[in-house]
Amino acid sequence: MMERAGPAHAEALAAIHHAAFPPGQRWGRDAMVLQLELPGVFVLYDPAGAMVMARIAADEAEILTLAVLPDQRRQGLARILLEEAARQCEAVGAGTLFLEVATRNEAARALYAAQGFEEIGRRRGYYADGDDALVMRRMLTPAPAGPV
Ligand SMILES: CC(C)(COP(=O)(O)OP(=O)(O)OC[C@H]1O[C@@H](n2cnc3c(N)ncnc32)[C@H](O)[C@@H]1OP(=O)(O)O)[C@@H](O)C(=O)NCCC(=O)NCCS
Repeated sequence: MMERAGPAHAEALAAIHHAAFPPGQRWGRDAMVLQLELPGVFVLYDPAGAMVMARIAADEAEILTLAVLPDQRRQGLARILLEEAARQCEAVGAGTLFLEVATRNEAARALYAAQGFEEIGRRRGYYADGDDALVMRRMLTPAPAGPV
């Protein structure tokens, strides 16, 4: 069951990230706490072993990271987290959702394509291993601005 994560979940989030990413791309506990304290950042967390972190800034939002434990993949956990993250971004008025993905990351690229993200740019040599980053965007349907 998905929940909003806070600093108390930082250890669990880091454990998922550690298992999901190779050395050099892992975010530790402290990095999770720092991110969670930034304005507009939120994390959705599934205790089964999945997490997504996003940042909302006015009418734009960005997926900062997404990770699912290797033995929990292909059950739809990432799709559910992404959908809910997009819904929460819309609810506070975001009209676009951006992310970056390595060209070699076929699983993530397939997921994002299936979730309505389109390639809008490329950052050459963006990753430490020399891979390019694809910049992807999904249009959202923002809720009308509420009272401030
Ligand atoms: C990418 C990742 C988050 C996907 O998580 P997941 O929970 O397995 O994804 P889902 O089960 O929700 O997949 C939804 C759809 O995405 C696509 N997809 C996901 N993994 C795929 C794979 N390995 N190969 C092909 N398509 C894949 C499929 O269309 C899938 O639907 P289907 O299972 O009905 O065919 C996971 O593989 C992961 O944590 N990878 C390492 C970290 C990472 O790369 N994060 C993203 C960085 S940008």
